[in-house]
Amino acid sequence: MRSQATLSALALTLVGSASAFWRMPCRSQTGVGRIDPIVDSGMISGHVHSISGGGGFGFTADFDTLQAPGSCTSCEVTQDHSAYWTPTPYFVYANGTAVMVEQVGGMLAYYLYYLQNVTAFPEGFQMVAGDPNIRNFTGPFPDADLSSWPTDPTDQFFLEQRAIGFNCLNYGKTPEPSLYRHQMPSKEYMDGNCADGMRFEMAFPSCGKSGEKDSPDHKSHVAYPSLVKEGNCPDGYDVHYPFLFYETIWATNQFIGEDGQFVLSMGDPVGTGYHGDFIMGWESQDFLQNALDTCQNPSGQIEDCPLFDIQSDAVGAKCTFDMPEALKDDNVFGPRDGIPVNIPIQAGPEPATAYAIAGRSGVATSSMASTTAKSSWAAPTLSYTAANPSLTSAALGGIVVDRPTGGNYGGIGPAGSKVVSQPWSSSIASSSTLTTFQAAASPSTTAAPFISSASNSDGGAVTTSYLTQGNTVIELAIVEDEVTVTATPSAGVSAKHRRHLQKHLHHAGRR
Ligand SMILES: *[C@@H]1O[C@H](CO)[C@@H](O)[C@H](O)[C@H]1NC(C)=O
Ligand SMILES: *[C@@H]1O[C@H](CO)[C@@H](O)[C@H](O)[C@H]1NC(C)=O
Ligand SMILES: *[C@@H]1O[C@H](CO)[C@@H](O)[C@H](O)[C@H]1NC(C)=O
Repeated sequence: MRSQATLSALALTLVGSASAFWRMPCRSQTGVGRIDPIVDSGMISGHVHSISGGGGFGFTADFDTLQAPGSCTSCEVTQDHSAYWTPTPYFVYANGTAVMVEQVGGMLAYYLYYLQNVTAFPEGFQMVAGDPNIRNFTGPFPDADLSSWPTDPTDQFFLEQRAIGFNCLNYGKTPEPSLYRHQMPSKEYMDGNCADGMRFEMAFPSCGKSGEKDSPDHKSHVAYPSLVKEGNCPDGYDVHYPFLFYETIWATNQFIGEDGQFVLSMGDPVGTGYHGDFIMGWESQDFLQNALDTCQNPSGQIEDCPLFDIQSDAVGAKCTFDMPEALKDDNVFGPRDGIPVNIPIQAGPEPATAYAIAGRSGVATSSMASTTAKSSWAAPTLSYTAANPSLTSAALGGIVVDRPTGGNYGGIGPAGSKVVSQPWSSSIASSSTLTTFQAAASPSTTAAPFISSASNSDGGAVTTSYLTQGNTVIELAIVEDEVTVTATPSAGVSAKHRRHLQKHLHHAGRR
Protein backbone atom coordinates (compact mmCIF):
# COMPACT_ATOMS: atom_id res chain seq x y z
CA MET A 1 0.00 0.00 0.00
CA ARG A 2 1.10 3.44 -0.65
CA SER A 3 -0.60 6.56 0.53
CA GLN A 4 0.09 10.10 -0.24
CA ALA A 5 -0.14 12.94 2.19
CA THR A 6 1.04 16.45 2.24
CA LEU A 7 2.21 17.79 5.49
CA SER A 8 4.61 20.41 4.51
CA ALA A 9 5.29 23.24 2.19
CA LEU A 10 8.24 24.31 0.22
CA ALA A 11 9.09 27.89 -0.33
CA LEU A 12 11.46 28.94 -3.01
CA THR A 13 13.04 32.24 -2.30
CA LEU A 14 13.41 34.05 -5.53
CA VAL A 15 15.07 37.22 -6.54
CA GLY A 16 14.23 38.57 -9.93
CA SER A 17 11.48 37.55 -12.24
CA ALA A 18 12.57 34.16 -13.44
CA SER A 19 10.70 31.71 -11.31
CA ALA A 20 9.87 28.71 -13.39
CA PHE A 21 11.09 25.24 -12.74
CA TRP A 22 10.25 21.63 -13.15
CA ARG A 23 11.04 18.57 -11.15
CA MET A 24 12.09 15.39 -12.88
CA PRO A 25 11.00 12.27 -11.01
CA CYS A 26 13.27 9.26 -11.54
CA ARG A 27 11.51 6.73 -9.37
CA SER A 28 13.91 3.87 -9.80
CA GLN A 29 17.59 3.36 -10.04
CA THR A 30 19.29 2.04 -13.15
CA GLY A 31 21.83 0.38 -10.90
CA VAL A 32 24.09 0.55 -7.88
CA GLY A 33 27.77 0.03 -8.42
CA ARG A 34 31.34 1.28 -8.35
CA ILE A 35 30.96 3.28 -11.53
CA ASP A 36 31.69 6.94 -12.20
CA PRO A 37 32.19 7.62 -15.92
CA ILE A 38 33.12 11.26 -15.25
CA VAL A 39 35.76 10.88 -12.53
CA ASP A 40 36.89 7.30 -13.21
CA SER A 41 36.14 6.95 -16.89
CA GLY A 42 36.82 3.47 -18.21
CA MET A 43 37.71 1.95 -14.86
CA ILE A 44 36.29 0.77 -11.57
CA SER A 45 35.28 3.75 -9.46
CA GLY A 46 36.67 4.33 -5.99
CA HIS A 47 33.27 3.90 -4.37
CA VAL A 48 29.67 2.83 -4.94
CA HIS A 49 27.07 5.13 -6.47
CA SER A 50 23.31 4.95 -6.77
CA ILE A 51 22.49 5.83 -10.36
CA SER A 52 19.29 7.02 -12.02
CA GLY A 53 18.36 8.22 -15.49
CA GLY A 54 19.68 6.90 -18.78
CA GLY A 55 20.18 3.17 -19.20
CA GLY A 56 23.16 3.67 -21.50
CA PHE A 57 25.31 3.97 -18.39
CA GLY A 58 28.58 2.28 -17.62
CA PHE A 59 32.31 2.82 -17.17
CA THR A 60 32.47 5.02 -20.28
CA ALA A 61 29.01 6.56 -20.43
CA ASP A 62 28.66 9.87 -22.20
CA PHE A 63 26.05 11.80 -24.16
CA ASP A 64 26.27 9.35 -27.08
CA THR A 65 25.85 6.17 -25.05
CA LEU A 66 22.98 7.70 -23.09
CA GLN A 67 21.24 8.76 -26.29
CA ALA A 68 22.02 5.59 -28.26
CA PRO A 69 19.04 4.33 -30.29
CA GLY A 70 16.88 2.01 -28.25
CA SER A 71 18.26 3.16 -24.93
CA CYS A 72 15.93 3.78 -22.02
CA THR A 73 15.54 6.06 -19.02
CA SER A 74 14.34 5.46 -15.48
CA CYS A 75 13.01 9.03 -15.35
CA GLU A 76 9.45 9.92 -16.27
CA VAL A 77 10.24 12.10 -19.29
CA THR A 78 11.35 9.89 -22.16
CA GLN A 79 13.42 12.66 -23.76
CA ASP A 80 15.62 12.81 -20.66
CA HIS A 81 18.34 10.14 -20.67
CA SER A 82 20.63 12.19 -18.47
CA ALA A 83 22.61 10.29 -15.87
CA TYR A 84 22.17 11.40 -12.25
CA TRP A 85 24.16 9.81 -9.46
CA THR A 86 25.23 10.22 -5.85
CA PRO A 87 27.18 8.08 -3.36
CA THR A 88 25.25 5.31 -1.64
CA PRO A 89 24.76 5.40 2.13
CA TYR A 90 25.48 2.32 4.24
CA PHE A 91 24.72 1.38 7.77
CA VAL A 92 27.73 -0.21 9.41
CA TYR A 93 26.85 -2.22 12.49
CA ALA A 94 29.13 -2.11 15.50
CA ASN A 95 30.42 -5.56 14.53
CA GLY A 96 31.52 -4.25 11.11
CA THR A 97 28.72 -5.73 9.03
CA ALA A 98 27.48 -3.22 6.43
CA VAL A 99 24.13 -3.01 4.64
CA MET A 100 22.99 -0.53 2.05
CA VAL A 101 20.38 1.93 3.29
CA GLU A 102 17.23 1.59 1.23
CA GLN A 103 16.35 4.42 -1.12
CA VAL A 104 12.74 5.53 -0.85
CA GLY A 105 10.81 6.75 -3.86
CA GLY A 106 13.70 7.18 -6.22
CA MET A 107 15.23 10.58 -6.81
CA LEU A 108 14.02 13.96 -7.92
CA ALA A 109 16.10 16.24 -10.08
CA TYR A 110 14.85 19.81 -10.01
CA TYR A 111 15.56 22.16 -12.85
CA LEU A 112 15.00 25.61 -11.38
CA TYR A 113 15.53 28.85 -13.25
CA TYR A 114 16.97 31.19 -10.68
CA LEU A 115 19.41 33.05 -12.86
CA GLN A 116 18.32 35.21 -15.76
CA ASN A 117 18.49 33.97 -19.33
CA VAL A 118 18.88 30.30 -18.59
CA THR A 119 20.78 28.33 -21.21
CA ALA A 120 20.38 24.60 -21.77
CA PHE A 121 23.28 22.29 -20.97
CA PRO A 122 25.08 21.53 -24.23
CA GLU A 123 25.45 18.02 -25.60
CA GLY A 124 28.59 16.56 -24.07
CA PHE A 125 28.19 18.62 -20.91
CA GLN A 126 28.97 16.94 -17.60
CA MET A 127 29.86 18.09 -14.12
CA VAL A 128 30.53 17.03 -10.57
CA ALA A 129 29.29 18.89 -7.50
CA GLY A 130 30.92 18.35 -4.14
CA ASP A 131 34.20 16.68 -3.15
CA PRO A 132 34.29 13.10 -1.82
CA ASN A 133 37.42 13.78 0.21
CA ILE A 134 36.15 16.59 2.41
CA ARG A 135 35.51 15.58 6.01
CA ASN A 136 34.69 18.77 7.87
CA PHE A 137 32.27 21.64 7.87
CA THR A 138 33.65 24.75 9.45
CA GLY A 139 30.73 27.17 9.31
CA PRO A 140 28.15 27.97 11.96
CA PHE A 141 24.94 25.99 12.33
CA PRO A 142 22.48 27.10 11.19
CA ASP A 143 23.99 29.23 8.46
CA ALA A 144 24.65 32.88 9.04
CA ASP A 145 22.13 35.22 7.45
CA LEU A 146 22.46 35.38 3.71
CA SER A 147 22.97 39.12 3.93
CA SER A 148 26.29 38.44 5.59
CA TRP A 149 27.46 36.15 2.85
CA PRO A 150 30.02 37.52 0.45
CA THR A 151 28.33 38.98 -2.60
CA ASP A 152 31.44 38.17 -4.59
CA PRO A 153 31.41 34.42 -5.25
CA THR A 154 35.16 33.98 -5.10
CA ASP A 155 35.07 31.43 -2.31
CA GLN A 156 33.72 28.39 -4.09
CA PHE A 157 34.69 26.08 -1.22
CA PHE A 158 32.41 28.10 1.08
CA LEU A 159 29.54 27.75 -1.39
CA GLU A 160 30.20 24.11 -2.19
CA GLN A 161 29.97 23.19 1.47
CA ARG A 162 26.59 24.95 1.65
CA ALA A 163 25.32 23.17 -1.45
CA ILE A 164 24.91 19.95 0.55
CA GLY A 165 21.88 19.27 2.70
CA PHE A 166 20.97 16.51 5.16
CA ASN A 167 17.32 16.94 5.97
CA CYS A 168 16.02 15.11 9.03
CA LEU A 169 12.55 13.85 8.13
CA ASN A 170 9.83 13.69 10.71
CA TYR A 171 6.49 14.13 9.06
CA GLY A 172 4.78 14.60 12.39
CA LYS A 173 6.76 17.73 13.09
CA THR A 174 7.59 21.03 11.50
CA PRO A 175 9.98 20.22 8.68
CA GLU A 176 13.45 21.47 8.36
CA PRO A 177 14.27 23.67 5.38
CA SER A 178 16.32 22.41 2.51
CA LEU A 179 20.07 22.93 2.67
CA TYR A 180 19.72 23.59 6.37
CA ARG A 181 22.33 21.21 7.72
CA HIS A 182 25.50 20.57 5.78
CA GLN A 183 26.70 17.42 7.47
CA MET A 184 24.97 14.30 8.70
CA PRO A 185 23.50 14.59 12.17
CA SER A 186 24.74 12.09 14.72
CA LYS A 187 23.22 8.62 14.87
CA GLU A 188 21.79 9.54 18.26
CA TYR A 189 20.12 12.62 16.78
CA MET A 190 18.65 10.62 13.92
CA ASP A 191 17.38 7.98 16.33
CA GLY A 192 15.68 10.60 18.43
CA ASN A 193 14.32 12.84 15.70
CA CYS A 194 14.41 11.55 12.14
CA ALA A 195 11.54 9.08 12.43
CA ASP A 196 10.93 9.13 8.69
CA GLY A 197 14.50 8.92 7.46
CA MET A 198 16.79 11.45 5.84
CA ARG A 199 16.62 13.44 2.64
CA PHE A 200 20.00 14.06 1.06
CA GLU A 201 20.24 17.20 -1.07
CA MET A 202 22.81 18.29 -3.62
CA ALA A 203 22.78 21.65 -5.33
CA PHE A 204 24.82 22.00 -8.52
CA PRO A 205 26.68 25.05 -9.77
CA SER A 206 24.66 26.99 -12.34
CA CYS A 207 27.24 29.45 -13.66
CA GLY A 208 29.15 28.18 -16.66
CA LYS A 209 31.74 29.14 -19.23
CA SER A 210 30.75 29.53 -22.82
CA GLY A 211 31.78 26.51 -24.89
CA GLU A 212 33.17 24.55 -21.93
CA LYS A 213 31.41 21.25 -21.41
CA ASP A 214 33.85 19.71 -18.95
CA SER A 215 37.18 20.50 -17.31
CA PRO A 216 40.11 18.43 -16.01
CA ASP A 217 38.70 18.37 -12.48
CA HIS A 218 35.13 18.16 -13.88
CA LYS A 219 34.23 21.17 -11.74
CA SER A 220 36.07 24.32 -12.76
CA HIS A 221 34.03 24.83 -15.94
CA VAL A 222 31.12 25.65 -13.65
CA ALA A 223 30.77 27.69 -10.46
CA TYR A 224 28.20 28.49 -7.83
CA PRO A 225 26.60 31.92 -7.83
CA SER A 226 27.13 33.92 -4.66
CA LEU A 227 24.14 32.52 -2.76
CA VAL A 228 24.52 28.92 -4.03
CA LYS A 229 21.29 28.94 -6.01
CA GLU A 230 21.20 32.54 -7.15
CA GLY A 231 23.18 35.73 -6.93
CA ASN A 232 26.24 36.79 -8.90
CA CYS A 233 28.35 34.50 -11.02
CA PRO A 234 32.13 34.76 -10.74
CA ASP A 235 33.97 36.67 -13.46
CA GLY A 236 34.29 34.64 -16.61
CA TYR A 237 31.25 32.48 -15.85
CA ASP A 238 28.72 34.21 -18.04
CA VAL A 239 26.51 31.30 -19.05
CA HIS A 240 23.53 30.67 -16.80
CA TYR A 241 22.47 27.04 -16.59
CA PRO A 242 19.38 25.78 -14.82
CA PHE A 243 19.92 25.28 -11.11
CA LEU A 244 20.03 21.52 -10.78
CA PHE A 245 19.04 20.16 -7.38
CA TYR A 246 18.95 16.45 -6.44
CA GLU A 247 16.83 15.02 -3.67
CA THR A 248 17.04 11.43 -2.51
CA ILE A 249 15.35 9.95 0.53
CA TRP A 250 16.93 7.14 2.52
CA ALA A 251 15.24 4.90 5.05
CA THR A 252 17.75 5.57 7.82
CA ASN A 253 14.83 5.09 10.21
CA GLN A 254 15.07 1.34 9.65
CA PHE A 255 18.16 1.44 11.86
CA ILE A 256 16.72 3.33 14.80
CA GLY A 257 17.95 1.63 17.94
CA GLU A 258 20.68 -0.30 16.13
CA ASP A 259 24.23 0.12 17.31
CA GLY A 260 26.41 1.40 14.50
CA GLN A 261 26.93 4.35 12.17
CA PHE A 262 25.87 5.66 8.79
CA VAL A 263 28.70 5.93 6.31
CA LEU A 264 28.61 7.23 2.74
CA SER A 265 30.12 4.81 0.27
CA MET A 266 33.47 6.63 0.08
CA GLY A 267 34.01 5.90 3.77
CA ASP A 268 32.53 9.20 4.92
CA PRO A 269 30.63 9.13 8.22
CA VAL A 270 30.57 12.96 8.33
CA GLY A 271 28.60 13.74 5.17
CA THR A 272 30.68 16.67 3.96
CA GLY A 273 32.07 14.45 1.19
CA TYR A 274 28.61 14.06 -0.30
CA HIS A 275 28.60 14.79 -4.02
CA GLY A 276 26.58 14.46 -7.16
CA ASP A 277 27.35 13.83 -10.81
CA PHE A 278 25.47 14.79 -13.92
CA ILE A 279 25.85 13.89 -17.59
CA MET A 280 23.56 15.83 -19.90
CA GLY A 281 21.56 13.20 -21.76
CA TRP A 282 18.59 15.15 -23.04
CA GLU A 283 17.58 14.42 -26.61
CA SER A 284 19.44 17.55 -27.72
CA GLN A 285 20.48 20.92 -26.38
CA ASP A 286 17.83 22.47 -28.61
CA PHE A 287 15.13 20.29 -27.09
CA LEU A 288 16.21 21.18 -23.56
CA GLN A 289 16.40 24.87 -24.47
CA ASN A 290 12.94 24.69 -25.93
CA ALA A 291 11.70 23.02 -22.75
CA LEU A 292 13.34 25.67 -20.58
CA ASP A 293 11.74 28.40 -22.67
CA THR A 294 8.34 26.73 -22.94
CA CYS A 295 7.76 24.81 -19.74
CA GLN A 296 7.18 27.63 -17.32
CA ASN A 297 4.02 26.45 -15.66
CA PRO A 298 4.45 27.44 -12.01
CA SER A 299 3.27 23.99 -10.98
CA GLY A 300 6.66 22.59 -11.90
CA GLN A 301 4.96 19.37 -12.91
CA ILE A 302 6.35 17.65 -15.95
CA GLU A 303 2.79 16.80 -16.97
CA ASP A 304 2.18 20.50 -17.53
CA CYS A 305 4.87 20.76 -20.17
CA PRO A 306 3.46 19.98 -23.61
CA LEU A 307 6.88 19.02 -24.96
CA PHE A 308 7.47 16.17 -22.58
CA ASP A 309 6.51 12.59 -23.37
CA ILE A 310 5.81 10.87 -20.09
CA GLN A 311 6.24 7.20 -19.33
CA SER A 312 4.89 5.31 -16.36
CA ASP A 313 7.11 4.48 -13.43
CA ALA A 314 6.56 0.80 -14.18
CA VAL A 315 8.19 1.27 -17.59
CA GLY A 316 10.94 3.40 -16.07
CA ALA A 317 11.64 0.69 -13.51
CA LYS A 318 12.56 -1.71 -16.30
CA CYS A 319 15.42 0.55 -17.33
CA THR A 320 18.66 -0.75 -15.91
CA PHE A 321 22.18 -0.58 -17.23
CA ASP A 322 24.39 -3.58 -17.90
CA MET A 323 26.46 -4.18 -14.80
CA PRO A 324 30.09 -4.63 -15.88
CA GLU A 325 31.47 -8.12 -15.33
CA ALA A 326 34.21 -6.76 -13.04
CA LEU A 327 31.58 -5.60 -10.53
CA LYS A 328 29.32 -8.61 -10.45
CA ASP A 329 30.79 -10.00 -7.24
CA ASP A 330 30.78 -6.70 -5.35
CA ASN A 331 27.69 -7.41 -3.22
CA VAL A 332 26.88 -3.73 -2.96
CA PHE A 333 23.66 -4.32 -1.04
CA GLY A 334 25.05 -6.37 1.82
CA PRO A 335 25.00 -7.58 4.44
CA ARG A 336 28.74 -7.81 3.97
CA ASP A 337 31.91 -7.22 5.87
CA GLY A 338 32.58 -3.45 5.63
CA ILE A 339 31.43 -1.09 2.88
CA PRO A 340 32.06 -2.30 -0.66
CA VAL A 341 34.73 -2.92 -1.48
CA ASN A 342 37.07 -2.67 1.48
CA ILE A 343 36.68 1.09 1.82
CA PRO A 344 38.29 2.48 4.97
CA ILE A 345 36.11 4.73 7.09
CA GLN A 346 37.81 8.11 7.40
CA ALA A 347 36.16 10.52 9.82
CA GLY A 348 38.39 13.55 9.29
CA PRO A 349 38.48 16.45 9.95
CA GLU A 350 41.50 16.32 7.67
CA PRO A 351 40.74 15.39 4.04
CA ALA A 352 40.40 11.69 3.27
CA THR A 353 43.46 9.97 1.87
CA ALA A 354 43.64 7.64 -1.11
CA TYR A 355 43.03 3.95 -0.64
CA ALA A 356 43.57 0.96 -2.89
CA ILE A 357 40.65 0.17 -5.14
CA ALA A 358 39.78 -3.51 -5.22
CA GLY A 359 39.88 -4.98 -8.68
CA ARG A 360 41.24 -1.94 -10.47
CA SER A 361 43.94 -3.21 -12.77
CA GLY A 362 47.40 -2.96 -11.34
CA VAL A 363 46.13 -2.19 -7.87
CA ALA A 364 46.08 -4.76 -5.15
CA THR A 365 42.98 -5.27 -3.08
CA SER A 366 43.29 -3.13 0.00
CA SER A 367 43.24 -4.39 3.51
CA MET A 368 40.00 -4.61 5.39
CA ALA A 369 38.27 -1.45 6.48
CA SER A 370 38.75 -0.46 10.06
CA THR A 371 35.52 -0.22 11.94
CA THR A 372 35.50 1.07 15.43
CA ALA A 373 33.27 -0.85 17.75
CA LYS A 374 30.90 1.47 19.55
CA SER A 375 29.43 1.26 22.99
CA SER A 376 25.99 -0.21 23.17
CA TRP A 377 23.04 1.88 22.14
CA ALA A 378 20.94 3.84 24.59
CA ALA A 379 17.71 5.65 23.89
CA PRO A 380 18.54 9.22 22.94
CA THR A 381 16.90 12.18 24.59
CA LEU A 382 17.95 14.90 22.19
CA SER A 383 15.27 17.36 21.28
CA TYR A 384 14.27 18.23 17.77
CA THR A 385 14.58 21.80 16.66
CA ALA A 386 12.44 22.84 13.78
CA ALA A 387 13.75 25.48 11.52
CA ASN A 388 12.46 28.98 12.09
CA PRO A 389 11.43 30.11 8.62
CA SER A 390 11.66 33.78 9.48
CA LEU A 391 15.31 33.06 9.94
CA THR A 392 15.90 30.40 7.37
CA SER A 393 14.10 32.06 4.52
CA ALA A 394 16.57 34.84 4.78
CA ALA A 395 19.54 32.82 5.86
CA LEU A 396 19.62 29.83 3.66
CA GLY A 397 21.22 29.30 0.36
CA GLY A 398 18.78 26.73 -0.83
CA ILE A 399 15.25 25.77 -1.35
CA VAL A 400 13.53 26.53 1.88
CA VAL A 401 11.10 24.01 3.16
CA ASP A 402 8.41 25.39 5.32
CA ARG A 403 5.41 23.94 7.00
CA PRO A 404 2.45 26.22 7.26
CA THR A 405 0.26 24.55 9.83
CA GLY A 406 2.41 24.68 12.93
CA GLY A 407 1.32 27.18 15.53
CA ASN A 408 4.83 28.21 16.42
CA TYR A 409 5.61 29.02 12.89
CA GLY A 410 7.01 32.26 11.64
CA GLY A 411 4.30 32.73 9.10
CA ILE A 412 5.70 31.98 5.70
CA GLY A 413 3.10 29.36 5.12
CA PRO A 414 0.33 29.67 2.60
CA ALA A 415 -3.12 30.65 3.71
CA GLY A 416 -4.42 27.15 3.48
CA SER A 417 -2.47 23.99 3.20
CA LYS A 418 -4.09 20.79 2.22
CA VAL A 419 -3.41 17.16 2.54
CA VAL A 420 -3.69 14.62 -0.18
CA SER A 421 -4.27 11.04 0.66
CA GLN A 422 -3.99 8.36 -1.91
CA PRO A 423 -3.92 4.61 -1.68
CA TRP A 424 -1.51 3.38 -4.25
CA SER A 425 -0.19 0.07 -5.35
CA SER A 426 3.25 -0.90 -4.22
CA SER A 427 4.41 -1.15 -7.80
CA ILE A 428 4.00 2.62 -8.10
CA ALA A 429 2.36 1.89 -11.41
CA SER A 430 -1.26 2.74 -11.02
CA SER A 431 -2.62 6.22 -11.31
CA SER A 432 -5.54 6.81 -9.06
CA THR A 433 -7.53 9.89 -8.38
CA LEU A 434 -6.28 12.26 -5.79
CA THR A 435 -8.46 13.19 -2.90
CA THR A 436 -7.89 16.53 -1.34
CA PHE A 437 -8.94 17.99 1.92
CA GLN A 438 -8.09 21.03 3.96
CA ALA A 439 -5.48 20.62 6.58
CA ALA A 440 -5.62 22.15 9.98
CA ALA A 441 -5.15 25.85 10.29
CA SER A 442 -3.97 28.95 8.60
CA PRO A 443 -0.48 29.89 9.51
CA SER A 444 0.12 32.12 12.39
CA THR A 445 1.82 35.35 11.57
CA THR A 446 3.96 35.76 14.58
CA ALA A 447 7.00 37.32 13.08
CA ALA A 448 8.19 39.17 10.06
CA PRO A 449 8.21 38.32 7.26
CA PHE A 450 4.48 37.92 7.16
CA ILE A 451 2.32 37.13 4.22
CA SER A 452 0.91 40.16 2.54
CA SER A 453 -0.91 38.12 0.00
CA ALA A 454 -1.22 34.45 -0.55
CA SER A 455 -2.67 32.43 -3.29
CA ASN A 456 -4.65 29.42 -2.38
CA SER A 457 -4.56 27.96 -5.82
CA ASP A 458 -3.93 24.35 -6.47
CA GLY A 459 -0.48 24.55 -7.89
CA GLY A 460 1.35 21.40 -8.82
CA ALA A 461 3.65 19.63 -6.52
CA VAL A 462 7.00 21.26 -6.09
CA THR A 463 8.60 18.41 -4.33
CA THR A 464 7.69 14.95 -3.34
CA SER A 465 9.05 12.99 -0.49
CA TYR A 466 8.58 9.38 0.48
CA LEU A 467 8.74 7.45 3.62
CA THR A 468 8.10 3.85 4.51
CA GLN A 469 6.08 2.72 7.44
CA GLY A 470 5.86 -1.03 7.48
CA ASN A 471 4.49 -1.96 4.12
CA THR A 472 3.18 1.50 3.42
CA VAL A 473 4.98 4.11 1.39
CA ILE A 474 3.74 7.59 2.05
CA GLU A 475 4.32 10.23 -0.52
CA LEU A 476 4.49 13.80 0.62
CA ALA A 477 3.72 16.05 -2.26
CA ILE A 478 4.27 19.72 -1.90
CA VAL A 479 2.64 22.31 -4.03
CA GLU A 480 3.55 25.77 -4.96
CA ASP A 481 1.53 28.89 -4.44
CA GLU A 482 2.64 32.35 -5.40
CA VAL A 483 2.88 34.60 -2.40
CA THR A 484 4.48 37.93 -1.81
CA VAL A 485 6.34 38.28 1.39
CA THR A 486 6.97 41.75 2.59
CA ALA A 487 9.32 42.18 5.43
CA THR A 488 8.71 44.68 8.14
CA PRO A 489 12.20 45.72 8.99
CA SER A 490 12.62 46.15 12.67
CA ALA A 491 14.62 48.92 14.22
CA GLY A 492 18.29 48.28 14.09
CA VAL A 493 18.13 46.03 11.08
CA SER A 494 20.62 47.17 8.56
CA ALA A 495 19.68 48.18 5.05
CA LYS A 496 21.68 45.27 3.79
CA HIS A 497 19.61 42.92 5.88
CA ARG A 498 16.38 44.45 4.67
CA ARG A 499 17.38 43.97 1.11
CA HIS A 500 17.34 40.25 1.68
CA LEU A 501 14.14 40.17 3.60
CA GLN A 502 12.20 41.86 0.85
CA LYS A 503 11.77 39.40 -1.88
CA HIS A 504 9.19 37.47 -3.68
CA LEU A 505 8.65 34.01 -2.46
CA HIS A 506 7.40 31.22 -4.48
CA HIS A 507 5.43 29.47 -2.00
CA ALA A 508 4.22 26.13 -1.34
CA GLY A 509 1.28 24.39 -0.08
CA ARG A 510 0.30 20.89 -0.92
CA ARG A 511 -0.95 18.67 -3.60
C1 LIG B 1 26.47 -7.98 13.08
O1 LIG B 1 25.34 -7.49 13.76
C2 LIG B 1 24.15 -7.48 13.00
C3 LIG B 1 23.07 -6.81 13.84
O2 LIG B 1 22.95 -7.43 15.06
C4 LIG B 1 23.78 -8.87 12.56
O3 LIG B 1 22.63 -8.83 11.75
C5 LIG B 1 24.93 -9.46 11.79
O4 LIG B 1 24.65 -10.79 11.46
C6 LIG B 1 26.21 -9.40 12.59
N1 LIG B 1 27.32 -9.83 11.77
C7 LIG B 1 28.13 -10.81 12.11
C8 LIG B 1 29.21 -11.14 11.15
O5 LIG B 1 27.96 -11.45 13.14
C1 LIG C 1 21.50 34.90 -23.08
O1 LIG C 1 22.51 33.90 -23.08
C2 LIG C 1 23.02 33.60 -24.33
C3 LIG C 1 23.94 32.40 -24.19
O2 LIG C 1 24.84 32.57 -23.13
C4 LIG C 1 23.69 34.82 -24.92
O3 LIG C 1 24.18 34.52 -26.21
C5 LIG C 1 22.69 35.96 -24.99
O4 LIG C 1 23.32 37.12 -25.42
C6 LIG C 1 22.05 36.18 -23.61
N1 LIG C 1 21.01 37.16 -23.74
C7 LIG C 1 20.84 38.13 -22.86
C8 LIG C 1 19.68 39.04 -23.09
O5 LIG C 1 21.58 38.26 -21.92
C1 LIG D 1 38.86 20.76 6.58
O1 LIG D 1 38.77 20.37 5.20
C2 LIG D 1 39.52 21.17 4.33
C3 LIG D 1 39.24 20.69 2.92
O2 LIG D 1 39.47 19.31 2.80
C4 LIG D 1 40.99 21.07 4.69
O3 LIG D 1 41.74 21.93 3.84
C5 LIG D 1 41.19 21.45 6.13
O4 LIG D 1 42.54 21.24 6.49
C6 LIG D 1 40.31 20.63 7.02
N1 LIG D 1 40.41 21.06 8.40
C7 LIG D 1 41.00 20.31 9.33
C8 LIG D 1 40.98 20.89 10.72
O5 LIG D 1 41.54 19.26 9.12
